[in-house]
Amino acid sequence: MTESPDIAHLVAPPEGSRMHHPDFVFGVGTSSYQIEGAAREDGRLPSIWDSFCAAPGKVARGENGDVACDHYHRWAKDVDLLAELGVDAYRFSIAWPRVMDAEGRPNPRGLDFYKRLADRLAERGIRAFVTLYHWDLPRHLEDRGGWLNRETAYRFADYADLMSRALSGRVAAWATHNEPWCAAYLGYGNGHHAPGHTSPRWAAQAMHHLLLGHGLALPALRANDAEAQVGLVANIAPGYPASDSPADRRAAELFETYQNAWVLDPLLQGRYPEAMWRLWKGCEPLVLPGDMDTIARPIDYLGLNYYSRSVLRAKGDDDFDWVRQPDAEHTTMDWEVYPQGLQDILESFGRQYPKLPPIYITENGMSSADVMAGGADDAAAEEAVDDVQRQHYLKRHFAACSRAMDKGIDVRGYFIWSLMDNFEWAWGYERRFGIVHVDFDTQRRSPKRSALAYAEYLRQRKARVGAR
Ligand code: FCB
Repeated sequence: MTESPDIAHLVAPPEGSRMHHPDFVFGVGTSSYQIEGAAREDGRLPSIWDSFCAAPGKVARGENGDVACDHYHRWAKDVDLLAELGVDAYRFSIAWPRVMDAEGRPNPRGLDFYKRLADRLAERGIRAFVTLYHWDLPRHLEDRGGWLNRETAYRFADYADLMSRALSGRVAAWATHNEPWCAAYLGYGNGHHAPGHTSPRWAAQAMHHLLLGHGLALPALRANDAEAQVGLVANIAPGYPASDSPADRRAAELFETYQNAWVLDPLLQGRYPEAMWRLWKGCEPLVLPGDMDTIARPIDYLGLNYYSRSVLRAKGDDDFDWVRQPDAEHTTMDWEVYPQGLQDILESFGRQYPKLPPIYITENGMSSADVMAGGADDAAAEEAVDDVQRQHYLKRHFAACSRAMDKGIDVRGYFIWSLMDNFEWAWGYERRFGIVHVDFDTQRRSPKRSALAYAEYLRQRKARVGAR
């Protein structure tokens, strides 16, 4: 996977960046439901995403993760691809419904899949960053209330215990949850994601149980896998006022409360932000004594997923509206490209949270309409998709991260979302986030030019270390 050496500059962090340091971790990410397929194999139980996809009108074109990237069968080749990319680390998630039966007993066939994957990564010198919950809750737990049921938090801790025993010594970093905001709000608040409920009060209660599950899982993760780091991954976005008016500035603050502090305050300060319940009056979750201490147990790192910013205008006293920036650059998700937001938000967390742990940027990337030239048998198909916008996107976000590091923010690594095009939730397969193109008819993987540039950058970085 090489092209001419000068391709590295297409994505490389700026000259002198601390990200060039050999200890800085560069990786790519995926998640189980988005890539594995094999939805009914080897004893995998149904998940809430299987049901959500089957419900009419929930997912674009009625698509689902039954096959996805067929990674469950192609995992060994996919590890080869990672090795060719030369990444230091690979972030993936475990499908909870694959590894435990409805009685909570281990499913050896499911466990073996992840053991083999972790072993192969280790053989290739690629560190495993493992997420336990990237949204595919076993359906039998949803049938008993899902994250609205406090019991689910305890079942999650059992699952964390099982996995950290099974993979002990093979994982560099565990993340309990991926993006509790999405699991709680999109899943229970606006219904855009599984399980598809639409109540802010439920979203607040689901959030509480997700965070509780995180805290309850920590002791087992530490006890079973003492060498690994443990943390959580949150999606974050900075809010900017649409005007200088005090009302709009308050609106931007309120947005940040709902988008960021709703998750980070409990984790890092042991309390929910009061302003949250100005936005959602009367939606405070039921919190039992001791819960907030459990949630705020120390973590080794915080994973942050950054894609875009929001611009807000006041709507009454305690609400806001989004203001689209029509002249700005957008991706095919219609997300504004705003690299400066990454620097701004990292620095603002540095000011807000005295106990901010070391950071990994666990997701950053963009979707574009990447079309392979020619058909599958065509010689032109050998040519890499030239995803210029993505190359430029990555380079500018790396630079923003670098600037935040220069200002003293302790960022330890950066994972591009995603290794390959995959099932983008309610948007289905059309939104392509991969640095590797996937032809979903043939399952052929073809590195896009961003992947070639990233690989070349990583190769040069290694060569420099070797030359020292
Ligand atoms: C994040 C999710 C990830 C992917 C990206 C585009 O919210 O964690 O699975 O869908 O967005």
